[in-house]
Amino acid sequence: MEKYTFSPDNSDSDTNDSEDSLEDPVCNPNRPVKVTFEEITSAAYRIRTGIVNTPCIRSHLSSLTGMDIYLKKDFLQHTGSFKERGARYAMLMLSQEQRQRGVVAASLGNHAQAVCYHGYLLGIPVTVVMPIIAPIMKIQKCREYNANVIMEGKNMDEAKRIAVALSKEKRLTYINGYDNPQIIAGQGTIGLEILEQVEDIDAVVVPTGGGGLLAGIAVAIKTLNPNIKIIGVESERCASYAKAMENEKPVLTAIEGTLADGLAVPMIGYNAWETSKNLIDKMVTVREEWIAVAILRFIENEKCVVEGAGACGLAAILAGQLDEFKGKRVVLILSGGNIDTTILGRCLERGLAADGRLVKCKVTVSDRPGGISELCKLIGSIGVSIKDVIHERAWVASDVFSVEVKVVCETRDYLHSIELRDLLFSRYKKVKFDNFPLKSGVSSSTD
Ligand SMILES: Cc1ncc(COP(=O)(O)O)c(C=O)c1O
Repeated sequence: MEKYTFSPDNSDSDTNDSEDSLEDPVCNPNRPVKVTFEEITSAAYRIRTGIVNTPCIRSHLSSLTGMDIYLKKDFLQHTGSFKERGARYAMLMLSQEQRQRGVVAASLGNHAQAVCYHGYLLGIPVTVVMPIIAPIMKIQKCREYNANVIMEGKNMDEAKRIAVALSKEKRLTYINGYDNPQIIAGQGTIGLEILEQVEDIDAVVVPTGGGGLLAGIAVAIKTLNPNIKIIGVESERCASYAKAMENEKPVLTAIEGTLADGLAVPMIGYNAWETSKNLIDKMVTVREEWIAVAILRFIENEKCVVEGAGACGLAAILAGQLDEFKGKRVVLILSGGNIDTTILGRCLERGLAADGRLVKCKVTVSDRPGGISELCKLIGSIGVSIKDVIHERAWVASDVFSVEVKVVCETRDYLHSIELRDLLFSRYKKVKFDNFPLKSGVSSSTD
């Protein structure tokens, strides 16, 4: 692994000329490119032998959500995300000389993996710059494809500047993961496939980071059927497309850590914006807890491991933000499945908590023999299982014959948690629930 020294402070104090030289030549704010339907069909033809035409099938989540849901399972691509489409197309379009010199990309992971894998297949040398916050699993995978992996930059913006600087210095072709017009065209091939796979679609819901996936799919679908609604979804913690809509142009947006790490892009692309701005019917920003619940639902009901970014569409539905499509046919893009096992574990716990199936409470009970066991028996009497118990004597403010017991309980569902809460309140004077879910998600039954 190579280390590249880059100082954002130095670059900021540079002249305008050197600032400009850190821009990607194919993503120019003054000359944005609108990607065409023809380019998407050309991409579809060229990549057809190197990309999986992934299934788009009716989901078990249909009866649960009251919508006729279809899932486009693009996490089944070899590297676990749709990013291979654009990456392969962009690399196939390189001249012989560019292929020999190699390419460079900046990415939080999925684009990097896609470029590394297809570079490996096509015999093109690849350098990727990954910000230090990139998920470990994604970093590891890039190394497996013999790429030169550089871990530098606090965020995508810094990683991108490093990659562009490297492209100038080493004469490598820089491939932007969401705004290069060929990348947008490649991602748009998902739209063509969906229209061949599913009839009478009312809406397609697309996770949105830098906007390339959304733009490509919107062009493909709206060209062939303008009645289909195109809905973008992003996490509330990185709502850069919503911000662009407010400002009517891409603007730098503050981003925070999110379960949808693939969407954490501080500013959407100029070409992506130009291509998609008149084609999007709605942009939804979802809360993190709904993303966690959506990941959980995909595992429990659909047997699919989907990363946070890929679960955003379902998150928006579960949160009730797309209720206008009840009874309609909706396609969700499951764009990626690359999630660190440790993060997955945390997501599932958060999902269970947000769902009201993992609850935490403090109950003050008698410290006389049998006091704690009585509480445990009571909890067990309604079929709730105890995951964790801690008891506390020293800091209990009331009488010395009391003990505070903290309990983490697993329940069947939200209603079971309410039953537990009511039971404890009816038997004990001091009961306190931490973050009791305010509203039921959707029940976890399947059809
Ligand atoms: C899994 C996943 N879904 C969706 C997106 C969003 O794509 P785009 O940046 O083109 O909007 C990304 C971007 O990296 C991603 O990794």
